[in-house]
Amino acid sequence: MDQAVGLREKKDTNRNPSISQPLNAFHRPVRVIAVSSGKGGVGKSTVVVNLAVAFDRLGQRVLIMDADLGLANIDIFLGLTPKQNISHVLKGTRQLREVLVNGPGKIRIMPASSGVQELTQLTDEQKLLFLEMLDELETDVDILLIDTAAGISDTVLYFNLAAQERIIVVTPEPTSLTDAYALIKVLHTRNGERHFRILSNAVENDQAGKAIFSKLSKVADHFLDGISLDYLGNIPSDPRIPAALMQQRPFIEVFPNAPAARSFRALAERIQKSSPHNNCGNVRFFWKRLLKI
Ligand SMILES: Nc1ncnc2c1ncn2[C@@H]1O[C@H](COP(=O)(O)OP(=O)(O)OP(=O)(O)O)[C@@H](O)[C@H]1O
Ligand SMILES: [Mg+2]
Repeated sequence: MDQAVGLREKKDTNRNPSISQPLNAFHRPVRVIAVSSGKGGVGKSTVVVNLAVAFDRLGQRVLIMDADLGLANIDIFLGLTPKQNISHVLKGTRQLREVLVNGPGKIRIMPASSGVQELTQLTDEQKLLFLEMLDELETDVDILLIDTAAGISDTVLYFNLAAQERIIVVTPEPTSLTDAYALIKVLHTRNGERHFRILSNAVENDQAGKAIFSKLSKVADHFLDGISLDYLGNIPSDPRIPAALMQQRPFIEVFPNAPAARSFRALAERIQKSSPHNNCGNVRFFWKRLLKI
């Protein structure tokens, strides 16, 4: 079945090479998913790490881009100590492949950290050089997951606009809802972005998860024209999630049978089965949009 899909995609690409996208080894376009929230501390990095492990178990080759300048970075979640980040690549002292760090399974992490802001201020020459290096990665990646910072800074907006799919994480806290709305609103009104996937995190039960989504989508439908919010589901609140973080290990590895671990796996399967709203996305498109080439 998979093979048939691969062949079909390959055939379509051959039919019109002028619009072909760079494809990975299995001839599937890379999915680029930004995970954002508006409010800080609602579980973006938790979602990225656990989703990455769930995707890895599904046989997807995941690259995490840590695009958060804050303290709670992916390397802390996974007990890694990257010595270099994207800024070394931009300075020309390292190749992109050299700054990637291996995570659990086949997951790789691109530590962006202090290089994130520089990424949006490159010279044309640097942009092209960087794109060339990224092309090399294209063949080994199925999913690029971007852990963005909180808030609505220009950098957060850049990553959201450049990504092909956006997951907005919300929690039952009222400010999480208002901040998520503020992010959606600015992406919609300033940049015409219409599709957002909403994930309710740290909820008591399914009903509470859906209730958060209903509130957000009611306000968005009322005030923002042509907006489309999809409910991706929920992750239950579980005190073992911060406990796993203390051990610097992914929660779904430490507590694979916990309901929240099942939710992360179900979430990965749902995303894998769904098709992205915007089919023109892939890693090169993402970087070109991000770097404004
Ligand atoms: N479903 C959950 N149940 C219980 N605790 C959770 C859950 N999800 C996340 N947490 C905890 O909430 C805290 C914040 O999570 P995390 O660091 O992932 O948020 P973040 O949105 O990435 O934060 P920041 O904006 O600072 O980057 C962590 O201690 C994490 O363990
Ligand atoms: Mg974080």
